[in-house]
Amino acid sequence: MIDSYKRKINYLRISITDLCNLRCKYCMPKNGISKIDHNEVLRLEEIEKITKVFVDLGINKIRITGGEPLVRRGVLNLIEKIGKIDKVKDFALTTNGLLLKKYAKDLKNAGLNRVNISLDTLNEEKYREITRGGNLKDLIKGIKEAKKVGLTPIKLNTVLIGGFNENEIYDFVNLTKNEEIDVRFIELMPIGEAKGWSLDKFIPNSRVLECIKDLKEIKRDDISSPANYYKLSNGKGKVGFINPISCKFCDNCNRVRLTCDGKLKLCLHSNEEIDLKTPLRNGEDLKEIIINSINKKPKSHHLEDGEYIKRNMVAIGG
Ligand code: GTP
Ligand code: 5AD
Ligand code: SF4
Repeated sequence: MIDSYKRKINYLRISITDLCNLRCKYCMPKNGISKIDHNEVLRLEEIEKITKVFVDLGINKIRITGGEPLVRRGVLNLIEKIGKIDKVKDFALTTNGLLLKKYAKDLKNAGLNRVNISLDTLNEEKYREITRGGNLKDLIKGIKEAKKVGLTPIKLNTVLIGGFNENEIYDFVNLTKNEEIDVRFIELMPIGEAKGWSLDKFIPNSRVLECIKDLKEIKRDDISSPANYYKLSNGKGKVGFINPISCKFCDNCNRVRLTCDGKLKLCLHSNEEIDLKTPLRNGEDLKEIIINSINKKPKSHHLEDGEYIKRNMVAIGG
C-alpha cells in the first residue's frame, strides 16, 4: 500500500487490549479502568481476519501491543495464528515484560520473532514508584527468559523523565556494553497522563549524547524505524533514540494501527479513526475500506502546535 505522500505502508501495530497489569504514571490514571465495553473489543478471530486482509494488501511487519498484550486471554492462540501467515516477515510484541518469564517460551514456539520491553529505571524502588507497584525482579527474570528462548534482538524502551531517571542515563547505556541488548531512549510525549506535566519533565534525547561522549552513530538498516542508532566503541548492543518531539520521523512513516475496539488509526497523534469492526461484523469487504483510508494518512503529527489525541496511550499501544 502506498499513501498519498508516496510512503510505503507495510507495518501494522495491533493493540489487543487496553487493560494493563501496571499503572505507569505517564500512561495510566491511578484508578484507571477500561473505558471500552466488552462487546466493543474485537474478538481474537476478528483480529485474525482483519490482519489477513492487511497482509493481503502488503503488510509484512506486525507488532502486537496493548495495554499489556500478555494479559489478554487467548493471546498465545492469536500469536500462533498470525505466526502462521506466510507473508509476515517481522512479527514482534511490545510488553512491560512482567509476564515474559511465564510466556516467553510459548511465544517463541507460537512463532513470535522478538520483543520490545518497557523499562524506565534500574532501581527497584523507583520502578515500583513509576509503575505504581511493579516488581523489577519479575521483569529482569522476564528479560532473561526472552533472551534464553531467542526472542531477539531485545529492545528496551526507556522514557526519559526529568527529575526521575536522568541520573540513570549512564547505567542504561552501559547495559549495551556487555549484553546483546538494545536500549532506546524515547522522548516523553505530552499525551495521556503526561499531557499536563511540567516542561522540566520533558528531556530531549540530545541530553544522552551530551552525557556519553563515547557513542558513535551507526548506519540505519531500516529507514522507517523511528529510532536513530548509536554504539559504544566496544559495545555489544545498540543505543537508540526515538525523538518524536525534537526530530520528527513522519516523512518515513510506514505504519498504521488497529485499536482493540476495531478502529484503524492512520497516525498515533491523529484523532481520526476509521471503523473496521462494524463493516466486518456486517460481512462487508474490508479491502476497499482500508485502501481508501490509507490515502487519508496525514503527512505528519502536530504535537508542537498543541494538537493532542483524545485516547490514552494505553488504548493505542504506543
Ligand atoms: P521496532 O520495530 O523494533 O523498531 O519497534 P517500534 O519502535 O516500531 O515499536 P515500539 O512499540 O517499541 O515503539 C517504541 C515507541 O516509539 C512507542 O512506544 C512510541 O512511543 C514511539 N513510536 C512508535 N511509533 C510511533 C509513531 O508512529 N509516532 C510517534 N510519534 N511515536 C511512535
Ligand atoms: N510518551 C512517550 N512514550 C510513552 N509510552 C507510553 N506513554 C508515553 C508517553 N506519553 C511508551 C511506554 C512504552 C511504549 C509502548 O509507549 O513507555 O515503552
Ligand atoms: Fe501498562 Fe505500558 Fe502503560 Fe505502563 S506504559 S501502564 S506498562 S501500557
